[in-house]
Amino acid sequence: MRLLTCLPALLLGGCAFAPASPSATQSSTASAPRPAQPGLLQQCQALTSSFQHPATELRATTVVPAGTLNNAGRPVAEHCLVTGQMHRRVSPVDGQTYAIGFEMRLPRDWSGRFLYQANGGTDGMVATADGGSALGSGGVLTNALQRGVAVISSDAGHSAAQNPLFGLDPQARLDYGYQAVAKLTPMAKALIVAAYGRPADRSYIAGTSNGGRHAMVAAARLPEAFDGVLAQAPGFNLPRAAAANMATVKHWERIAPTKVVNGQPDVESALPTADRALVARAILARCDALDGLADGLVHDTEACHAAFNLQRDVPTCSGARDGSCLSAEQKQALARAHAPSFTSNGTPVYSGFAFDPGLVQPGWAEWKFRSALGRQRNPVSIAFIMSSPPSGDLSMATDASRSAAFAVSFDLDSEFPKLFATQGPYTESGISFMTPPGDMLFEPFMRHGGKLLVVHGVADPIFSSEDTAAWYRRLSQHHKSATSNFARYFQVPGMGHSRGGPATDQYDGLAALIDWVEGGQAPQRIVATARQAGNPGGANPDVPAQWQPQRSRPLCPYPSVARYTGGDTASAASFTCLP
Ligand code: BEZ
Repeated sequence: MRLLTCLPALLLGGCAFAPASPSATQSSTASAPRPAQPGLLQQCQALTSSFQHPATELRATTVVPAGTLNNAGRPVAEHCLVTGQMHRRVSPVDGQTYAIGFEMRLPRDWSGRFLYQANGGTDGMVATADGGSALGSGGVLTNALQRGVAVISSDAGHSAAQNPLFGLDPQARLDYGYQAVAKLTPMAKALIVAAYGRPADRSYIAGTSNGGRHAMVAAARLPEAFDGVLAQAPGFNLPRAAAANMATVKHWERIAPTKVVNGQPDVESALPTADRALVARAILARCDALDGLADGLVHDTEACHAAFNLQRDVPTCSGARDGSCLSAEQKQALARAHAPSFTSNGTPVYSGFAFDPGLVQPGWAEWKFRSALGRQRNPVSIAFIMSSPPSGDLSMATDASRSAAFAVSFDLDSEFPKLFATQGPYTESGISFMTPPGDMLFEPFMRHGGKLLVVHGVADPIFSSEDTAAWYRRLSQHHKSATSNFARYFQVPGMGHSRGGPATDQYDGLAALIDWVEGGQAPQRIVATARQAGNPGGANPDVPAQWQPQRSRPLCPYPSVARYTGGDTASAASFTCLP
């Protein structure tokens, strides 16, 4: 009703629109598949003055001509770029000015869809709202903007300059954890109404890593806001994963033959590429053919768990390490890095990791070794953002030798409880604001009719695909056969964190989700391709040279596995998803 009375004014660019009905803030019940209907942008530049929403300031609106942005060698069509801020404020704790910065890109030729692009890392940057990187997978060939989707992207409430010390401000923590998504989503939906004259037919959220965490948290906390959720490499247990990763550093450091490089502990020398390649070959020798084809990809992760034995299958050095063996200490450290972790009194910290030949990729070392030490990731996240109280040693934020020292001496027993603690102005614990609340069974989201598509690389070194598989098993135990009607989980063998690795890492998760939400077609398989030289999305240097060009494989809904059933070994068509 409000929309109808407002529409003439909207067309003239004069309607101050604040959402009054649920239609502007929530999508309608998603239970019956219904395709989104296209529309046309009605106003762009006038939005700066015509659009009003609580605590929102639009800074600029610009018409972006076709071809200004490109993706995978193809131009992005003309669209309207809106930049702005929400909830600008001065922190009573650190005196800094904070705001939730955002940009929204509104295609002139609109598909009728809205996408919340949830960004990665510790946020702090408004990544281009094109729905590319958020979709996960390597080298997305068609980003959301190219499909005519209206996309919002944000810094989640702090700037790059405030990263990671924004964690000292309790509200900035909460915005990063979940409140930025909750504040931006109704505003973005209202902006869509102002720009197109009607609400989006379908709303999606997609993200990878921390963005996958945002997506799963949104499915739990805002069960009616989105019809489809695409969570990739989801860090839904991010505080636990960061703590567990950092707790392994001291074991690597102890056995590292080179102690310091560029002023940093050279923990990678504990297990350099050649030694990881040896382990990868041993895993392949035991597991590669379990899916019916020895092709450098281990699809049957669970059978591999039983078949591969690190102690037995990798030779133990009797003398110096020479690339043909691992020392007993290396084996112990590697086994520990793959095992479930606990505090010394037996409190579970994080799940174990699957042994996968993808551990050979450089990205594996990046996360296991450098992110565990660096002043951008695990140490500062734990110290400043997720622990209560935050660490008082502010030098860690600027001095990499301090963050490395914190990591090497990290004491899980004393630090882990701080993730569950509240103290003074820190009234929500890190675990509470970072992870989906409740039991992760997503009942209200399921009742809304939402669809949850989760994708995870088996060789992800920071967020474990085993953790995601365990969650999915628990979901299935609870919802029984109804589970796959609303939630499906796809593992990507060999893929590292979000993309890369010796893997078929290029796939279209968003298209699969849209088909599910709007066409009622639950994904039975998702075809994924290896990115060799010449791939329009960019080559993946981790793809082995001997793989056939354009190798494709099906990603299968867990727990089914892609099994070779005969035919061209390069083609996904020769594989069937089977138990
Ligand atoms: C971390 O803070 O440790 C982290 C953040 C995003 C992704 C992975 C790890």
